[in-house]
Amino acid sequence: MILDLGCGPGFFSIEMAKMVGELGTVIATDLQEGMLEKLKNKIKGTEIEKRIKLHKCEEDKIGILENVDFVLAFYMVHEVPNQKKFFEEIKSILKYNGKIFIIEPKLFHVSKATFKETIMKAKGIGLVPVEKPRIFLSRSVVLKKVNLKMQYRNAKPTLR
Ligand SMILES: C[S@@+](CC[C@H](N)C(=O)[O-])C[C@H]1O[C@@H](n2cnc3c(N)ncnc32)[C@H](O)[C@@H]1O
Repeated sequence: MILDLGCGPGFFSIEMAKMVGELGTVIATDLQEGMLEKLKNKIKGTEIEKRIKLHKCEEDKIGILENVDFVLAFYMVHEVPNQKKFFEEIKSILKYNGKIFIIEPKLFHVSKATFKETIMKAKGIGLVPVEKPRIFLSRSVVLKKVNLKMQYRNAKPTLR
């Protein structure tokens, strides 16, 4: 189960729907009804139509009930007014070991410092950065929801 946050006209929702296979689901969510309408028209009558669930969210609430394995947030986090609240909601719907992939535009929109602040906010609520893939003209990070209790249980005792 995948969530495409701020899916826009659905370029990535469609590609991910092809990847998840017949039994997978992509929840494509955006606050603009018009974007969801565009995506709806693109997939109408195609084999991936039933794999994509359209969801209209609010600026400060995603509002889905499903638990997801992966969240894509492509070029949208800088538009979110309250990022801390946004990450808290994402954490609450992510399964353990689930990941969120954030990609932000380098040019004009998101400075290095601003992106660092975004990562700090996500880390502040317990999401752990695990990777920084290189993406053309973009800043990106993959964060993971880890089960801290399991981490501590599996940690080897250190000798002093
Ligand atoms: C620059 S577009 C990117 C669209 C798509 N992710 C892509 O890369 O093709 C940003 C999208 O995020 C949506 N958006 C902005 N703030 C949002 C929020 N708080 N929750 C959900 N969607 C949001 C906008 O409506 C817009 O469709």
